[in-house]
Amino acid sequence: MRECACEKDMKGLKLLVTAGPTQEAIDPVRYITNHSSGKMGYAIAKMAMLRGADVTLVSGRTAIAPPPFVKVVPVVTAKDMYEAVTAVSKEQDIIIKAAAVADYRPAKVSDEKIKKKDDDMSITLERTDDILKYLGEHKPDGQFLCGFSMETQNMIGNSRVKLTKKNLDMVAANNVKMAGAGFQGDTNVLTLITQDEEVSLPLMSKEDAASKILDRILFLRVTGK
Ligand code: CTP
Ligand code: CA
Repeated sequence: MRECACEKDMKGLKLLVTAGPTQEAIDPVRYITNHSSGKMGYAIAKMAMLRGADVTLVSGRTAIAPPPFVKVVPVVTAKDMYEAVTAVSKEQDIIIKAAAVADYRPAKVSDEKIKKKDDDMSITLERTDDILKYLGEHKPDGQFLCGFSMETQNMIGNSRVKLTKKNLDMVAANNVKMAGAGFQGDTNVLTLITQDEEVSLPLMSKEDAASKILDRILFLRVTGK
């Protein structure tokens, strides 16, 4: 009932959201990834859809079902995500990058399963492209770009560096060590950071946090702050 009664205040807006982890293959059996569940990004996609937005969800592999009435683009690696996002980024009014993208991938993917030996082994890693940084550098006029920032220390300071370096309009920051925040649970504790302000949200469900993020973005778009 509440869902049907949602105000359609995002009608006519195109929103791209990324969610979930990326997986970077080591060999045909193994990969490097992180603990992202995708829940935060999926909640944003759902709440924006309910508010009437035209939503594209670029998602790494997750165990959860995507919301209905959302265009889902499944991806696996950081490279896949880069290609899927940059293919449609120009036409978006709002982009929210909730995905936990691997910063490194194995420099060489072994064609065969790597067999264990008696001595140590190491894997050479290379950097992936920073998708959000690319989006900040190629942001069309009027587009609102929101990143996420996952930290374990100096959350505000480190997140502010990301805001500036990646040319973002807002960063939704969370401290993964805080109770009720982070990757796997159904709740989050976010601070919404813009150039001039920091809005600290209390512990709430990821759907409520998603609504607060969208409220803040709509407010900032209208006031031009
Ligand atoms: N991000 C991205 N592409 C990458 C790495 C990160 O688009 N290759 C995006 C994430 O989706 C997120 C934001 O950048 O919206 C911040 O990610 P985070 O991992 O917190 O920060 P990094 O800039 O990668 O720096 P670090 O991991 O060193 O804290
Ligand atoms: Ca990172």
